[in-house]
Amino acid sequence: MVKKREVIDKSGNKHSFSEGMAGVIATTSEICFINGAEGKLIYRGVPIEDLAEKSTFEETSYFLLYGELPTQKELHEFEKRLKKHRAIPATVLDVMKQMPDDANTMQTLRTVVSLMGLYEPKNDEHSVKETSGEVEKLIAVFPTIVAAIQRLREGKEPVAPDNSLSHAANLIYMVTGEKPDDYAARVLDVCLILHAEHGFNASTFTSRVVISTLTDVYSAVTAAIGSLRGPLHGGANEGVMHLLDEIGDLESVEKVIKNKLETKAKIMGFGHRVYKVLDPRAKILSQYSKRLAEITGKQKYYAMSKKIEEIMKREVGDRGIYPNVDFFSASVYHYLGFSLEIYTPIFAVSRISGWGAHIMEQLRENRLFRPTSVYLGDIDRKYMAISDR
Ligand code: CMC
Repeated sequence: MVKKREVIDKSGNKHSFSEGMAGVIATTSEICFINGAEGKLIYRGVPIEDLAEKSTFEETSYFLLYGELPTQKELHEFEKRLKKHRAIPATVLDVMKQMPDDANTMQTLRTVVSLMGLYEPKNDEHSVKETSGEVEKLIAVFPTIVAAIQRLREGKEPVAPDNSLSHAANLIYMVTGEKPDDYAARVLDVCLILHAEHGFNASTFTSRVVISTLTDVYSAVTAAIGSLRGPLHGGANEGVMHLLDEIGDLESVEKVIKNKLETKAKIMGFGHRVYKVLDPRAKILSQYSKRLAEITGKQKYYAMSKKIEEIMKREVGDRGIYPNVDFFSASVYHYLGFSLEIYTPIFAVSRISGWGAHIMEQLRENRLFRPTSVYLGDIDRKYMAISDR
């Protein structure tokens, strides 16, 4: 149920509106459907469970961008184009080496993407071909940027992409310097599929608002990265890991979570604007977290996560507060060996496909986003000279 807020302005007019635009229809879209009451998510008609089981990130990205599942030939050519654009331009990499290595990784990613826009030929006409070309280049290069950010933080040289590897396997390789086993690569591939698209979430809406001014794709994506960084959005996966570390062990879970709920603190990785039942992505990720805990023999983070889920269900489940996508992705990334600082950038590596699809859709039938607000300030105030104040 969408909560309405009622206000009366200074002229005595009554207004009713939805705070945070909850439930407000901003436009139409054919990319993603979410049924928050039943916990269903579909990309262009196909259930997320099918894509997670049968697709790859590359295929899902093509599907999101172009609206049809690719033929073998189309997929092969798409993968070839992505591989061609994996490398970071040398001039950009040089600048990256000058950036502070203790900076926030999402701020660095945002800055690098903005910088790359300077080297992109002008696409002022927003032709479909040029726009999709820019989007594909960004999908291709995001893993290389994120891996380079991590390597430079560790005082190591970035690892060049390996074109014999898939998008997901190559990301692990560029971060760790070692080729992953097939299972680790597949788990990350599934994570990328699950995070790729989610309707009018804050960062996607940001990208659509920005591109609706007919500015460039890089500006829209830069703004979207800034939006995804926030702890109420993509930054929550990092928040979940902080929470697990703060709790420390399985025995302390009950006390810490109950204490947080009593003090009205938010539990990161729980709650959602649309889902009022378990997020279907969390359900899939929970299974991968369990399996990775068994394989690595390190049960702690999975066991703590399950305990938090159980307590939250008992305490606030009746209010529709359940794990969202960020909750189990934290322990999955931990088991895959990623540093906490790149959890949210990995989200961006995936969501760039969704942003790209929405940018292309917005440009097809563009109308400038320009909403309004209820003015509650003064309406009849005299200007007072500075000498009299
Ligand atoms: N822990 C405890 N209480 C919560 C939580 C939570 N995680 N989420 C919502 N609530 C409570 C909230 O305190 C409020 O209570 P009251 O009515 O007593 O004031 C009520 O539920 C409604 O919450 P809200 O923040 O007004 O709801 P919203 O629709 O504006 O927020 C949300 C959705 C995702 C911002 C929120 O659930 C939240 O802050 N969650 C924690 C951060 C998080 O995990 N974000 C990731 C979201 S999903 C992936 C993504 O988009 O990146």
